[in-house]
Amino acid sequence: MGMKLAVVGSGYVGLVAGACLAELGHDVLLVDNDPDKMAMLLRGEIPIHEQHLPELMSRNRLQGRLRFADSIADAVKSSSVIFIAVGTPALVNGAPDLSYVEAVASAVAQHVGEFKVIVEKSTVPVLTHQEIGKVMMLNGAPAESFEVVSNPEFLREGTAVTDFLFPDRIVVGADGERGAALLRKVYEPLTSGAYYSQGEAIPRPATFCGPARLLVTSAKSAELIKHASNSFLAMKISFINAIANMCEAVGADVQEVCEGIGADSRIGERFLRPGIGYGGSCFPKDLLAFRLVAEECGLEFGLLNEVIKLNEYQRCRFVRKVRSALWNVKGKKIAALGLAFKGGTDDIRESPAIAIIQALCNEGAEVVVYDPKAMERAKCVLQDKVHYASSAYEACAGAHAMVVLTDWREFAELDLALIRRALRHPIVIDGRNVFRREQMVAAGLHYYSIGRPTAAPAKSSQSDGQATVGEMLKEMRAIEPVPNLSA
Ligand code: UDX
Ligand code: UDX
Repeated sequence: MGMKLAVVGSGYVGLVAGACLAELGHDVLLVDNDPDKMAMLLRGEIPIHEQHLPELMSRNRLQGRLRFADSIADAVKSSSVIFIAVGTPALVNGAPDLSYVEAVASAVAQHVGEFKVIVEKSTVPVLTHQEIGKVMMLNGAPAESFEVVSNPEFLREGTAVTDFLFPDRIVVGADGERGAALLRKVYEPLTSGAYYSQGEAIPRPATFCGPARLLVTSAKSAELIKHASNSFLAMKISFINAIANMCEAVGADVQEVCEGIGADSRIGERFLRPGIGYGGSCFPKDLLAFRLVAEECGLEFGLLNEVIKLNEYQRCRFVRKVRSALWNVKGKKIAALGLAFKGGTDDIRESPAIAIIQALCNEGAEVVVYDPKAMERAKCVLQDKVHYASSAYEACAGAHAMVVLTDWREFAELDLALIRRALRHPIVIDGRNVFRREQMVAAGLHYYSIGRPTAAPAKSSQSDGQATVGEMLKEMRAIEPVPNLSA
């Protein structure tokens, strides 16, 4: 028998959580204070690109398990568990803006009625559950009428639905028995394995050996688990980026080094992909927030500073790499493939791709951008600073170089012979290591990547694999640009 649940905030996290909770058989009411978003959702449109979300939304709407409430009041009155999934963007000092969480808590408090569990789904600093509790009481909710539980999300954009339904763990931070019991019930279809034996379950990832594991902790511990997990993952990325830079300095191959490190089961191979640094709505914000938490506790946690610094350095280093591959950036036409902060999403929040494109524009480059899903969102930020192409091939037409900034599968599958013909100069600078060096060489491309030696076609007159632009340009015939391959 499904439970009655409400999800306040229908963004990346709220929509996925709402649709997945309905998929587990619960009656879910979604609410959002953005009228345009609500109107879109009511029309059956989905404001974000997320794998499996359209099928989940339409199936569960059709079966009446996923509905939209007009107000928080309606959502709260008819639900026993209310998930808060509004944004917590960073303020200028790095602290998360918790005013939306507070606004929702005070609105919820006014309609509590019989016992409710208020779930912190948004990422918040440790002890926020206490503040939510205080706000609830200040707004008229009797202490015995509610419990605040922390239930952090570990959803990666692009695979968020799969991450929700096939989790490594579900964390429930509850200081009272009632809250823990209700959350156990919410996730019972996953912890009992019942969901996985259903015909309609979405494809199970090969690595999942369920049923899902649910961990009950104190609310404080759960809040810390979220920040600590994301900080640790960001640390892995900054670490491997630093190792990649070391590989470049000595001519080693970071791919080989990653394999060697990752094979140690104590370390593991995941989140060891070097690149242009992490972005997105979580890691950058969570690192800043966690650093502040440490400061407020009077603790030295300089490691977090280093992780952040290395991440910023990685973007600057990539711009320098483009500069050294092209000699002068000013006046050059650069095809930039990728705008999203990672492949599989249309999200450009804190995208290193956007930052790098802006830096190249500021240096006087003419940048032509292409992304399979993030073009519309990027237009709001980049406006007329760049040109927009409708395919990777079109972006490359007549460009002095192609740079890869997002790890879309589509880029790895490009026809390199066509890219070679489209480019004015056969230079590719890959910030995500989406290509193999041999394939680039075979396609006649000069290939710069992260943490791997530069690769150049055999005919190039270079001695150590580090072709200079001067050497390269001398022997290169300018190729006629391909007009518009996507047409
Ligand atoms: C979430 C979490 O909230 C954030 O803490 C976490 O770190 C990342 O994931 P996300 O879902 O990505 O944020 O944010 P966003 O896509 O901006 O969605 C937030 C939604 O809440 C928006 O649709 C916004 O309109 C809505 N909202 C905001 C409300 O409904 N009420 C408010 O008072 C404020
Ligand atoms: C993250 C967390 O992984 C997830 O558990 C949840 O807390 C929300 O925040 P998300 O931001 O969607 O998910 O993406 P993630 O896959 O973690 O990637 C974050 C950034 O790190 C991206 O810019 C990605 O390109 C980069 N990254 C990731 C690397 O540079 N190398 C890696 O090996 C992995």
